[in-house]
Amino acid sequence: MSSRLGRIYRIAGPLVVAEGLESPRMYEVVYVGGEGLIGEIIAIRGEKVYIQVYEETTGLTVGERVEATGRLLSAELGPGLIGTIYDGLQRPEIEIGKLTGDIFIKRGVRVNSLDRSRKWVFNRSSGVKIGEKVSEGDVLGSIQETPILEHKVMVPPGVKGVIEWIADSGEYTVEETVAVISTGEAKIEVKLHQVWPVRVPRPYREKLTPSEPLITGKRVIDLVFPIAKGGKAAIPGGFGTGKTVLLQSLTRWGHADVAIFVGCGERGNEMADALKSFRELFDVRRGRPMMERSVFIANTSNMPVAARETSVLLGATIGEYFRDMGYNVLLVADSTSRWAEAMREISGRMEEMPGEEGFPAYLASRLADFYERAGRVTALGDPQRTGSLTIFGSVSPPGGDFSEPVTRNTLRYIQALYALDYDLATRRHFPAISWLMSYSLYVDFVKEYLNEVSGGKWYEYRNLFLKILQREAELLDIVRLVGPETLPEEDKLLLEVAKMIKEGFLQQSEYDLNDAYSSLEKGFLIMEAILEFYNTSLKLVRSGVPVFKIRELKSPYLIYRFKLYPLDEARNLYNMFRETFKKEVEELMGGTHGE
Ligand SMILES: Nc1ncnc2c1ncn2[C@@H]1O[C@H](COP(=O)(O)OP(=O)(O)O)[C@@H](O)[C@H]1O
Ligand SMILES: [Mg+2]
Repeated sequence: MSSRLGRIYRIAGPLVVAEGLESPRMYEVVYVGGEGLIGEIIAIRGEKVYIQVYEETTGLTVGERVEATGRLLSAELGPGLIGTIYDGLQRPEIEIGKLTGDIFIKRGVRVNSLDRSRKWVFNRSSGVKIGEKVSEGDVLGSIQETPILEHKVMVPPGVKGVIEWIADSGEYTVEETVAVISTGEAKIEVKLHQVWPVRVPRPYREKLTPSEPLITGKRVIDLVFPIAKGGKAAIPGGFGTGKTVLLQSLTRWGHADVAIFVGCGERGNEMADALKSFRELFDVRRGRPMMERSVFIANTSNMPVAARETSVLLGATIGEYFRDMGYNVLLVADSTSRWAEAMREISGRMEEMPGEEGFPAYLASRLADFYERAGRVTALGDPQRTGSLTIFGSVSPPGGDFSEPVTRNTLRYIQALYALDYDLATRRHFPAISWLMSYSLYVDFVKEYLNEVSGGKWYEYRNLFLKILQREAELLDIVRLVGPETLPEEDKLLLEVAKMIKEGFLQQSEYDLNDAYSSLEKGFLIMEAILEFYNTSLKLVRSGVPVFKIRELKSPYLIYRFKLYPLDEARNLYNMFRETFKKEVEELMGGTHGE
């Protein structure tokens, strides 16, 4: 479609109404005004076309030109994505000053998302030859994009045919053709990059049921509310409950090949900090800088609101692209509430019928579409190639009230909930994930895997932990009313054990390198020790030993320290605990019998 011209009829903040555009298409990209601000058609009503503009619209005037491009808002996908910081329109190299508003982003500037001059070493796949039949998703070659990420050059979706020409291994730019595929009707030039519309999910062969956990290094997630590879999760929490810290930690420690951080509508200085630390962060587990497997997309609160949506969609598109290569990708979006607020603003400007609290009626379906892009799939191409995109979205309910529309609608589409609790955060219990409100529907799917690595015990232990914690909540209600003295001894013991679970197991410091990441083995070791303490102590209590006597024992306090050590040393501590605990119990029993 060639470009067509219209005129600005009305301007309302990020919304521009145009007229005179011939056959406009929904979601078509338009250039607005003399400066050519980038916008997208989001509604067509009679002769009027509604455009959400992704750049600052101040200074635009009625009557200025509007140019429709016939293209959909798209992402450039190819080598060079990793390690780059983009804005919501995939403009690269956002400097930190731009995030805070100190540096003004020039409007209407169209820059390439991928560096055009950089040469990449392309290694042609063995077996890919002239005359060979290929189809969508087949890997033609690869590029070592960073020391820890091999970028696969794939036949783009929708292309099927015979290789007419294929480049030798060598150095190429993203614009150079590396293969020509004859489809019968046409000759398709495959370059080192693809272009894909951000609103359209990338195709795959088959969606698979989640079966493997995505290990995050957080005990409360991995061993209590596990997330599956390809899972979708929400992290709602009031201001200061630790959403950003948790999301950052997930991208840093999570067992993902590629991590994508979408900063959406949060404050510029906060995001600048996040970005700085991201740049400096070292992926200790792999011994490499984080940037070698990360993409950062930033659209701060001082950047145009409409681009919050594109930042989220861009993240999903890039995530699917690496998923298609057979990687496990983790996408975190902070915060989806800011995106929803942008929807509300645009919808208001369009004078649409408002839904709950002014959010548009389509809020729910937009959220659903976003989370639906998560999943574990068999990719196009080699049926053996599976990849996954796991999504965590933070939600910032005003006043921490989870009954507001964004939280409530998000809950309809996610499968794992990590509810951050304000009281826990104030008590410095981090991560402030509430064990009473959170859940994971992946438990049964990953049960086999986690049982296997824990000698068949995980599921049982996990349920015991939750039962203890739930019972603790009931007991604490009673204690609040009548004080702790009236509780039966067994209940007093349960409170001790619950405390141990909370402080020795659930709490994890982000700032202690031994604790920030906890392996499954270490987490399981702590579970085992706590339950061993519980079982033995229960026997003591039942044979008449009062709980205050058990509280006086020294060895149980060792359990609190396991988490602060590497696995080997934690194991030593565990052995030390078992030995001394046994002795102490014998003495205690000897003592009681002697009385
Ligand atoms: N896991 C953690 N360990 C230690 N401190 C934390 C942790 N998570 C959050 N905090 C503390 O809480 C503060 C607020 O966290 P932040 O993630 O910015 O909250 P939110 O994004 O929900 O507003 C942090 O600056 C930090 O001091
Ligand atoms: Mg935050």
